[in-house]
Amino acid sequence: MTSEKIQRVGVIGAGQMGAGIAEVCARAHVDVLVYEQTRELAAAGRARIMRSLDRGVSSGKITEREREQAAWRLRFTSDLGDFADRQLVVEAVVEDEKVKSAIFAELDQIVTDPDAVLASNTSSIPIMKLGITTSRPERVIGLHFFNPVPVLPLVELVTTLKTSAAVTERAEQFAGEVLGKQVVRSADRSGFVVNALLVPYLLSAIRMVESGFATKEDIDKATVLGLAHPMGPLALTDLVGLDTVKSIADSMYEEFKEPLYSAPPLLLRMVEAGLVGKKVGRGFYEYA
Ligand code: CAA
Ligand code: NAD
Repeated sequence: MTSEKIQRVGVIGAGQMGAGIAEVCARAHVDVLVYEQTRELAAAGRARIMRSLDRGVSSGKITEREREQAAWRLRFTSDLGDFADRQLVVEAVVEDEKVKSAIFAELDQIVTDPDAVLASNTSSIPIMKLGITTSRPERVIGLHFFNPVPVLPLVELVTTLKTSAAVTERAEQFAGEVLGKQVVRSADRSGFVVNALLVPYLLSAIRMVESGFATKEDIDKATVLGLAHPMGPLALTDLVGLDTVKSIADSMYEEFKEPLYSAPPLLLRMVEAGLVGKKVGRGFYEYA
């Protein structure tokens, strides 16, 4: 028997990524329920999505009517218990294995549909570590979106030793055909494909700044003008979030024990100082 088409999605977290994932699902005509820890965070998440939808309208990507319809499809809750009827849940909270594991264990108790897909947007935590916190690891998968989600067309699909073929097919079909993303598959190794390549590069750029090799402005200018990257590594670290880059590096270091994944002291100090990038207004650069 084939599974029902996914029409009810739950997104956990309405930070940069959760908001983006919720937005693209709502724009794809799917009913979306978003969990945030508090009403205030939920309101901030909704405002973030509305700003992005407004941007979609002003750049001609969507019509005003599509913006309104997407907004109607989005509901918010601070009670994970409301996720009982979800057919797909995408977890997008802070890159912390303990926090994510607790959420997966809770979801396992809540989501009633035996066909439901439980996905994580983690950047680096092996999906098996999350799967084993549930009684249904065969239904747990990685769906790794890219920032900003409405703009970047990629989703990495990460299957574990236990993910079933039916779940893999259902998740791939949703990301590809419903959301219109391009899907690549990765083995369940910390960092998957993109971050295994990207994060050593970002950390190298931070080490260059730290050692006085070149200024942050020149490093960014060099990669934009010399490699045709849309933005340089320090601006990109600011966009991703220095806290997230550090957590990804820690997770990859734990898995591979390679010095190239070890977080440089400048990154550690900036995270300790709360200078975690664009989302707080200051990282390597300042943002209005
Ligand atoms: N919603 C809808 N559309 C948006 C948008 C949003 N939130 N943000 C930007 N856009 C659209 C704009 O409308 C614009 O579209 P057109 O070109 O058709 O007009 C386009 O995206 C570019 O936007 P801007 O012109 O405003 O800005 P820009 O040209 O400076 O691009 C950027 C900004 C999209 C962030 C671009 O610099 C970029 O792609 N940077 C690289 C981002 C990247 O590498 N992301 C991956 C990070 S790693 C990751 O995500 C994985 C992980 O686990 C850490
Ligand atoms: P963010 O800082 O913007 O948002 C973090 C979210 O986690 C918020 O919704 C916050 O309320 C929630 N949160 C924090 N502590 C929590 C707790 N104890 N319990 C429940 N929720 C909690 O981070 P983000 O950039 O949206 O990243 C979220 C996830 O997406 C991470 O796993 C990250 O690795 C991954 N990711 C990030 C990027 C990126 O470029 N930032 C790209 C792809 C994937």
